[in-house]
Amino acid sequence: MHKHFKIAGISAACVALAGCATMMSDEEAARQALTVMKASFAERGQAKLSRLDRDDPQATCSVGPEVKIPREVQERIEKQQTALIKYPADGKFIGDWRQGERIAQSGVGMQFTDNPANPAGGNCYACHQMSPQEISFGTIGPPLLGYGKLRGNSEAIQRYTFGKIYNAQAYNACSTMPRFGHNRILTEEQIKHLTALLLDPASPVNQ
Ligand code: HEC
Repeated sequence: MHKHFKIAGISAACVALAGCATMMSDEEAARQALTVMKASFAERGQAKLSRLDRDDPQATCSVGPEVKIPREVQERIEKQQTALIKYPADGKFIGDWRQGERIAQSGVGMQFTDNPANPAGGNCYACHQMSPQEISFGTIGPPLLGYGKLRGNSEAIQRYTFGKIYNAQAYNACSTMPRFGHNRILTEEQIKHLTALLLDPASPVNQ
C-alpha cells in the first residue's frame, strides 16, 4: 500500500515537471504548461485569461538565460515594435511633470481588484530611482536621476523618451519594462506627463 502510494506520487511529479521518463520538446513543454495555467487561473474582473497569450516579442524573449537571441531577431522585434508606437497627433511630447510624478508613484491599475474605469499608475519607482526625495525604489531598471540634465531637452530626446515609455521593446527587444502605451496601461496624456517628469528642468528628477 505504502509502496503504491509512493509510485503514484513520483509519476504525478513527473507529469508536473513535464516529462521525467520521456524527453519533451520545448514547444510541447510550453504548450502543456500553458494548458495547466489556463486550467488553474480563473478570470476575474479585467484580469482575463487572454493575458496568458504571448505576442511575438514575449514568446521570443521568454527563454532561459543560456539562450542567446540572435541580433537580427532582436532588430526585427525592435523594428516591429517601433512601428506600433502612436506618437501624439499634436506633435507635443511634454505634459505636466507634477502629474507625471503622481503617475510614477502610483502602482494601482490592471489588477482584478481595480476598476478599469479609473486611470492606472505607472509604478515607475518599483524599478527606477527617479527623484532624490524618494527613498523607496526598485533597482530592476537603471536610476533615472538627472535624466533630463544629462540628455538635454531636444526634440529627438523628447521623442525617444515618449517612445520608450510607450513601448520599451522598440528600443530593446527583450526589455522587461512594461509597454505602457502599447498595452493600454497608460494614456498618451499620462505618457506626456511622465516625459515631462524626466525632461523638465524644474522636475525633481533634474534637481
Ligand atoms: C518592471 C520594471 C520596470 C518598470 C515598472 C519601469 N521600467 Fe523603465 N526600464 C526598466 C528596465 C529594466 C530598463 C533598462 C532596459 C531597457 O532599456 O529596456 C528601463 C529603461 C527605462 C528608460 C530608458 C533609460 C535610458 O537611459 O535611456 C526610461 C526612460 C524608463 N525606463 C522610464 C520608465 C518610466 C517613466 C516608468 C514608469 C511609467 C518605467 N520606466 C517603469 C524597467 C522598468
